Amino acid sequence: MDKYIINGGNKLYGSVGIQSAKNSVLPILAAAVLTDGKVKILNVPNISDVRNMVKILTCLGCRAVYEHNDLIIDSSNADCFEIPSVLAHELRSSVFLLGSVISRFRSAKIAYPGGCDIGLRPVDLHLTGLKRLGVEITEKNGYILCKSDRLRGNEIVLDCPSVGATENIMLAAVKAEGTTVITNAAREPEIEDLQNFLNSIGAKVSGAGSGTVKIKGVDKLGGCEYQPLPDRIEAGTFLIAAAMCGGEVLAEGVKPENISSLIHKLNENGCKIHIDNDKILLENHKRLASVKSIETQPYPGFPTDLQAQYTALCGICGGHSIITENLFETRFKYVPELRKMGADMTVIGRNAFVRGVERYKGATVMAHDLRGGAALVLAGLAADGRSEVLDISHIDRGYGSFEQKLAGLGADIVRVTV
Ligand code: EPZ
Repeated sequence: MDKYIINGGNKLYGSVGIQSAKNSVLPILAAAVLTDGKVKILNVPNISDVRNMVKILTCLGCRAVYEHNDLIIDSSNADCFEIPSVLAHELRSSVFLLGSVISRFRSAKIAYPGGCDIGLRPVDLHLTGLKRLGVEITEKNGYILCKSDRLRGNEIVLDCPSVGATENIMLAAVKAEGTTVITNAAREPEIEDLQNFLNSIGAKVSGAGSGTVKIKGVDKLGGCEYQPLPDRIEAGTFLIAAAMCGGEVLAEGVKPENISSLIHKLNENGCKIHIDNDKILLENHKRLASVKSIETQPYPGFPTDLQAQYTALCGICGGHSIITENLFETRFKYVPELRKMGADMTVIGRNAFVRGVERYKGATVMAHDLRGGAALVLAGLAADGRSEVLDISHIDRGYGSFEQKLAGLGADIVRVTV
């Protein structure tokens, strides 16, 4: 179990390159199972969720070869429709494979997916959508068993704009007979990224980002070379780090429009932000003012995946804030850890009530999930004194070269294997 040792108080200066988006690469890897064509995904992040997804594809009979940071997937010899339960429990995105595996093999078997422990994370919308496409689904002994002689396009209305359900249905519909229309679909940029990838291999998908996605079934798919979107959550995490520690940080290779909700809040806090094409420069040299209320919402609202990092920032602003987490039931597990660092925060239900303190003080804290763990690192960087962040395997799921990138900006952070 690795840990970070951090000596806080350094301001951050310099530029940081942003990885390809984890939440684009994962569904794109699932989509690669659909085609016999060779797929090359560029600048794939070196994170454990991607490594685990590649292991799953290999278990299905796909060939996966790294070429530097690029990943080549050849599914022409894929011959297995059962996703190994040990790996399925490792990551939420294993469930996306249902759609592509059922499309390819007419059968699929998967244990209930794992992922960050941030809530109940049901898959009912995934399964309801697949049933609408003609999939027979049996749930037995912790497994989901799918069978379908023929996938047929259909109209599907999602009860909530679920990212994963939207992606799973898109994947199952790509080679179905006829047209599928998903209404109340998720609007996240990663949905449009998946659409663009699918169209690059010959699919006919349109409307992603609008809330209504249309998929016209095709018979044949080919190969492609594809550069996924930059990771808006990684970019946001580094901007919040700069806001908390003070200094001047340039995030490069980003799409500023994909984190406009965060940029708006950081401006309100009093940060100086300059945007130039695919670069965002954040400058701050003072204690920031609090923003009264923040509510996480589906895109384009404030992203739940930046909620923990932003709450850590609120904890050292001048004033009070209320953070409301509307998407997941238990996404405040990092708050008791921040309290060990002197935070004045109370969680009641889906709300965190924060009174800003002057500074955090270094402490030993435990990461419980990916984004909560990142929030603890940011608090340690801004704190007075030494901190240890334990069980950073959670952070390794979504941030490649995290400590190297932070140290490159002047942070005093090292990884220790215990
Ligand atoms: C994706 O998870 C992301 N993961 C999450 O990022 C992100 O937090 C989430 O979307 C919301 O943006 C990946 O893309 C791999 P949802 P997903 O289905 O698909 C409810 C990170 O930190 N729901 O949009 O699991 C669910 O309970 C991770 O990078 C159902 O009720 O999220 C939640 O309240 C964490 N039934 C809401 O929808 C379902 O069948 C949003 O979940 C599915 C979801």
